[in-house]
Amino acid sequence: MPRAPGLSVRLRLTLSYAGFLMLAGVLLLAAVWFFTLRHLPAYTDVEGGVLIRSTLLSDLASAAGVVMAVLLVFGLVGGWVLAGRMLAPLTRITDVTRMATNGSLSHRIRLPGRQDEFRELADAFDTMLARLEAHVAEQRRFAANASHELRTPLAISKALLEVARTDPDHDTGEIIDRLHTVNTRAIDLTEALLLLSRAERRSFTPERVDLSLLAEEATETLLPLAEKRDVTLETYGEITPALGSPALLLQLTMNLVQNAIIHNLPRQGKVRVHTERRPRTVVLVVENTGDPIPPPVAATLTEPFQRGTERVHTDHAGVGLGLAIVRTITEAHNGTLTLTPRRPGGLRIIIELPALQARPGTAI
Ligand SMILES: Nc1ncnc2c1ncn2[C@@H]1O[C@H](COP(=O)(O)OP(=O)(O)O)[C@@H](O)[C@H]1O
Ligand SMILES: [Mg+2]
Repeated sequence: MPRAPGLSVRLRLTLSYAGFLMLAGVLLLAAVWFFTLRHLPAYTDVEGGVLIRSTLLSDLASAAGVVMAVLLVFGLVGGWVLAGRMLAPLTRITDVTRMATNGSLSHRIRLPGRQDEFRELADAFDTMLARLEAHVAEQRRFAANASHELRTPLAISKALLEVARTDPDHDTGEIIDRLHTVNTRAIDLTEALLLLSRAERRSFTPERVDLSLLAEEATETLLPLAEKRDVTLETYGEITPALGSPALLLQLTMNLVQNAIIHNLPRQGKVRVHTERRPRTVVLVVENTGDPIPPPVAATLTEPFQRGTERVHTDHAGVGLGLAIVRTITEAHNGTLTLTPRRPGGLRIIIELPALQARPGTAI
């Protein structure tokens, strides 16, 4: 936004310094003047002659003029130098800000010296730059991974089509089946990406949602999958009212329960889903048996396209966005997501959302 040019802060500070110095000088001289006028008779006998008041006053006036002139020069020069030193950190902050505006997020102000207002500003700015830089790097990684993931099914389709076109002995039925699988996967991936961006936009009207109902709905829907995989599902919990998007929170619950079923033991796996109310929050816990997960690995699982230690080659191999979507939906609801590896194996995932505060007299 263009603005009209104004006086620089350095100049304004200089003028204020000089102004205050002049004011102090004037006050001091006025006091002397006043004192002399009040207490000195017109003629005073002093050693060696007579002191005439009017002569004294005119001497005082010319001395005052000199003093004021010296004070003015002193105030202006001293003020200019002092203001320059005071404002030096601002120049440094401005330089780094300009660099950041031009796209260089790697510079930091790193203001030396003790803690003061400028240090605070510079440190806050450095923290902001660091976060921005990490965020941009994450977005770039995400775009690269997403393109890579989208290219894979396209490349496979191309190879399959090539076989169909050039190989006279090809099995059409098999090629169609494989094309179908690959196509479904590409659609799943695109839908997951769309869902992720929808959750990121936070463009939903919050409604009252009971997490325990969502948990029930998710487990009911996924029961056939659980049976097919020899996993027992257990759901219990109290009414847990929260405020949010029912569709997104259902998606979150479905992703968690589906993960808990799929990334489970090959036989006799267990999944437990429960909801509870805490003083200010509501909690959804999904835990499952499974292979042991090292804590450092658990910490990375919510990153997009992160798929644990080994890639899952099954009919239900996910696209690697399930937990990233869960995290984004949780954040869109101002909640927290905690992943804890269980002993001897498997994972416990806790979603904590702000509770819907009941107004007095309202039933929840
Ligand atoms: N409930 C769970 N138990 C054990 N491992 C899990 C669980 N949920 C997720 N994971 C691990 O985290 C990875 C990422 O999960 P997710 O983002 O849903 O991707 P996807 O399920 O598509 O692989 C999974 O590949 C799996 O290794
Ligand atoms: Mg998944």
